[in-house]
Amino acid sequence: MKIKNLWLHNFRNYEDEKFSFSDSLNVLFGKNGQGKTNCAEAVFYLCTGTSLRIRHDKQLIRVGESVAKISAEAENRYGRVTIEADIYEDKREIRVNGAKISKNADLMGHINSVFFSPGELRLIQDGPDERRRFMNMSISQTSASYYTALLRYNKILDQRNVLLKNRDVSLILDTLPVWDEQLCKYAAVIVKKRGEFLEKLAPYAKELHAFLTDGKEELVITPERKYEGDEREIASTLQKRLAGNYEKDLRLGFTTVGPHRDDVDFFISGKDAKAYASQGQTRTAALAVKLSEVEIFHELSGEYPVLILDDVMSELDLPRRKKLLKRIEGLQTILTCTHAERVLYGADCTKIRIEDGAIKLGK
Ligand SMILES: Nc1ncnc2c1ncn2[C@@H]1O[C@H](COP(=O)(O)OP(=O)(O)O)[C@@H](O)[C@H]1O
Ligand SMILES: [Mg+2]
Repeated sequence: MKIKNLWLHNFRNYEDEKFSFSDSLNVLFGKNGQGKTNCAEAVFYLCTGTSLRIRHDKQLIRVGESVAKISAEAENRYGRVTIEADIYEDKREIRVNGAKISKNADLMGHINSVFFSPGELRLIQDGPDERRRFMNMSISQTSASYYTALLRYNKILDQRNVLLKNRDVSLILDTLPVWDEQLCKYAAVIVKKRGEFLEKLAPYAKELHAFLTDGKEELVITPERKYEGDEREIASTLQKRLAGNYEKDLRLGFTTVGPHRDDVDFFISGKDAKAYASQGQTRTAALAVKLSEVEIFHELSGEYPVLILDDVMSELDLPRRKKLLKRIEGLQTILTCTHAERVLYGADCTKIRIEDGAIKLGK
C-alpha cells in the first residue's frame, strides 16, 4: 500500500495544503509546533478513522472553522483508492472511492498503517490498557470481524456493568446469564484473534529485537494463557468463570473477568520489562514490536503498510537509527524530525519542510 498524495483543509493548523509522497522514505522536517505530527495524524486518521491523540474529532478542526476536510489517494493491490473525511463538530462523513461508509469497520484495511511515536513506549511501560489498545488497533486493521466483535463486546460489557450496579439482586441474577451468553460469544472471537496475533508477533519481535541489539538482548512476549481450544471452548470457559465471579462482580459493581482484563507480558533478557527495563531498552523493545506489526500486516494482507515514524529518531542512539533506516528500506515511510540531516545519514529520501501549517518550498 502506498499513499500517493494527501490533502488537508482546515485540519489542525493547516489551512490548505497538498502533499505528494514518494513510495519510499518521506521526511517531514521543521521546528517544533509547525504541523509535522498533524500531517502524520491525518494519514493515520484516513487509515483507521481515529487518531491516537484525541478524545474528540472536534479537536482536529482548525480553530475558528466549522469543518475539516482531508483526503488521500493511495494504491493497494486492488488498485487506486481514494479516502475522504469531512469532520464536523458533531459528526463526520467518510467516503471510500466516493461511496459514503456507515461504519468504521468498512474503512479499515483499505490503507494499513503502523504508527510509532515516543508515546508508544507506554506499550511496554504502562498498565495492561495500553497493550490491549495496541492489540485492538493492530488486529482491527486486518480483521473486520475482530473490530466488530470488539465493539459489540464493549457495548454488552457496559450494559452488564450498569446492571451490576442495580440494587435488585434477584433481577441481576436472572438477567446475567442472558448477557453472559452474548458476551462470551464476542469474547471468544477477541481471545482467539489476539492469541493468533501474539503467536505471530512473538517470533518477529524476538528476531527484530535481536537485530536491533546485535543479539545482545532477548525480547520474549508471552500472552497470559487463560484459555484453550476453539471459540466454542473459549466461550464456555469464560461463561463458567463469569458465573463463578457473580458474587465478586456484584460486590465490586463491574465485570472482573474477560478479555477487557487480559494482558501480555514482555520480558527483556529474562526480566519483566514493565518493572525493570531502562528507557533505552523500552524504546528498543517498542520499536521491535512496531516493526513486527509491519511484518504481520504484510503476512496477513500480502502488502506492506505505510509506516509512520513520528519523532522517534532523536530518541534512538546512533547504531539503532542506522539499523532502523536499513530495516525500513523499500517501505513507504513518513518520518518526522526536527533536523533531517542529523538523522538521515544521506539516506535516499523525499524531504518536505513544514513551517506554520504549510509546506515551505525551497531548501
Ligand atoms: N485544531 C487546531 N487548530 C489550529 N491549530 C492547531 C489545532 N490543533 C493543533 N494546532 C496547532 O498545531 C501545532 C502543533 O503541530 P504538531 O504537528 O504537533 O507540531 P510538530 O511539527 O512539532 O509535530 C501547534 O502550534 C498547535 O497550536
Ligand atoms: Mg510532533
